[in-house]
Amino acid sequence: MSDKSIKMFKPYMSEKVAGAVVEILKTDWIGQGPEVDKVERKFEKLFGLSGALTLNSCTSALHLALLLSDVNEGDEVVATPMTCSATNIHILHQKAKAVFADIQKSSMNIDPESVKEKITDKTKAILVVHWAGNPCDLDEIHAVAKSRDIPVIEDAAHALGARYKGAYIGAVSNFTCFSFQAIKQITTIDGGMLVCKDGVDYKRGKLLRWYGIDRNFKGDIYWKFKVEEPGFKYHMNDVTATILSVQLDDLEKVNLRRREIADMYRKGLSGVDGLTLLEKKSDRQSANWLFTILVNRREDFIKMMRSNGIDTHMVHVRCDVYPIFGGKRLNLPVMNELEPKYVSIPLHAGLTDDDVMRVIDTVKKGW
Ligand SMILES: Cc1ncc(COP(=O)(O)O)c(C=O)c1O
Repeated sequence: MSDKSIKMFKPYMSEKVAGAVVEILKTDWIGQGPEVDKVERKFEKLFGLSGALTLNSCTSALHLALLLSDVNEGDEVVATPMTCSATNIHILHQKAKAVFADIQKSSMNIDPESVKEKITDKTKAILVVHWAGNPCDLDEIHAVAKSRDIPVIEDAAHALGARYKGAYIGAVSNFTCFSFQAIKQITTIDGGMLVCKDGVDYKRGKLLRWYGIDRNFKGDIYWKFKVEEPGFKYHMNDVTATILSVQLDDLEKVNLRRREIADMYRKGLSGVDGLTLLEKKSDRQSANWLFTILVNRREDFIKMMRSNGIDTHMVHVRCDVYPIFGGKRLNLPVMNELEPKYVSIPLHAGLTDDDVMRVIDTVKKGW
């Protein structure tokens, strides 16, 4: 057996990034400038969408999406508990309440039926996550949102390059939030994108990401711009935008490799005793950020993998148990059933076929 350990994640960095960063650092403009505008247009073209706003993180994108959805004190947002706390934390900063819906057994994504049950007159938005990069049932979620005339916010931190019924994720909902943090499909070390479907939201979001100030304002001697709404320092700079632009060129290649690995896992692990694969649907294409499986006796599984030099991880813990969200395990039957079973195995573009086969063979020996 190889004694090389197999890691869960490995940041993807194109060999062209270093050179491009050196060039931008030699210029006179490294803050938010033309590279930011350029990469936004590139992103829009790549995914067939409009209204892309670069930001310093997906967490910032989620905050702006909630603010633009008019989520305020006393309001409710129906959300998934099965995610990073970053998804739901700004619901609290807006002084609203996260109302957690149950998840689906087949995908670990939010269950549209449960969303329907959790909607009240106070619900201002539905906030969904594409677990592991696999798109949730957007049609059904949009049907619920439409019946109440409320927006859908997609946390697509796991789902860059995923597709739902032919369209790229980002082209469908009122707001979609992406992450370019260190271990995502492609990275700018930290960075994010908010995609607004509506032009009015886009314009307001553009102001809010930079204190509320219009950066296109052309003054003469005095900058007599008006600041009508307090904004944030959430923008991306030209150095990060340069990294993003170079990395976007490799996204297809990276996601293809991730898909190959996921397909190998799917084939190699189907029918293994005590292990259940999540469902793969033909109407959507996952961005395969994680490969999550459900296992019996998870602790034994993790220890066995570790003793064979293979990392595994739960990655995120249900949000309802955090004191900030109430600190109580809610009565969510599927979430409760899957909680002791889910775990993710290594998935990143740096894995070789031999690495993947070693993971499969190790799992197949049992735990
Ligand atoms: C589902 C989800 N949402 C949001 C985030 C936060 O992303 P960022 O670090 O870009 O703010 C993460 C980070 O891993 C995540 O997994």
